Amino acid sequence: MGQSIKRVDLEGMITVAHRGAANFAPENTMSSFQKGLDLGADFIEGDVHLSKDGELIVIHDESVDRTTNGKGLVKNFTLDELKKLDAGTSFHSDFEGEAIITLNELLEEFYGKIGILIEIKNPSLYPGIEEKVVEILDQYNDLQSIVVQSFSEHALKKIHELNPKLQIAVLIETSTTPISSKKLNDLTSFATYINFNISNLNKRMVDEIHQREGKVLVWSKTDPKLIQKAFRYGVDGIITDFSSWPYLPPVYV
Ligand code: G3P
Ligand code: CA
Repeated sequence: MGQSIKRVDLEGMITVAHRGAANFAPENTMSSFQKGLDLGADFIEGDVHLSKDGELIVIHDESVDRTTNGKGLVKNFTLDELKKLDAGTSFHSDFEGEAIITLNELLEEFYGKIGILIEIKNPSLYPGIEEKVVEILDQYNDLQSIVVQSFSEHALKKIHELNPKLQIAVLIETSTTPISSKKLNDLTSFATYINFNISNLNKRMVDEIHQREGKVLVWSKTDPKLIQKAFRYGVDGIITDFSSWPYLPPVYV
C-alpha cells in the first residue's frame, strides 16, 4: 500500500519568513518582509550588522558583494553610502533600486503588524552591537512580538542582562549537537526559543526543551522528509523561505 500525500498543516505552527520571504523578493529588503506579511507568516526574520557610522543595517552577509551592486564589508560603509547601493537587481531586475534598510526602518514599518525575529550576525566584529539593539528595542512596548536571536550565546546573554524582558532565541551550531541536558538547562534559563537547522534535530532534545517550557523552531530549505520528521518530533514552528507554493511541499503522512 502506498502512503498518502498531504500538504503540511501549518495550523498552530509558528511560521517565520526567513530573510523575509526570500524566495519571492530580495532577501532582507522591505519587499521581502512585506511578502512575508502578505503570505501570512507569524514572524519575519532579518539579520543585522553595524555600519561604519554605527547604524544597525539589515543584511545577511558581512559584505555587500552577494546581494548588492557594491563591493566591500558592511562595516566599511556609512549608512549614506549603503543607501546608494542597489539591493534588488541581484535577485531580479523587477526589484532594481530596492534599498538596503536599517533595523529602525524595519521596526517602524512592521512592528505591530507581524512578529519580528532579529538575528545579530557576527557580534564579535561589532563591539557594542548588543547595546545598540537593546536601545532601539527599548522604545517598543510589546516585547512579545519581538525576538532576538544569534549563534552567539555570549551576545544573547548580554542582551538578556541588558533587558531581561526581551525574548531570546539561541541558534544551535550543527557541530554542537546533540546538546546535553545540562546545557539545555543553561540555554533555557535565558532563552525562550532554541532553534535548530532541520537536519540537526532529535526528539530527545525537542522533548527536553518543552519540559523546560522552551520552544523549538527549525530552519530549512524545502526537504519534505526532514520537515515531516521535525513536525513529528513536535517542533513549534519553521523558519522558511516559502520556497514552495503555497507554503511548504506536500509530505507523506
Ligand atoms: O533563522 C535561522 C537562520 O536565519 C540562520 O541562518 O544563515 O540564514 O542567517 P542564516
Ligand atoms: Ca538569519
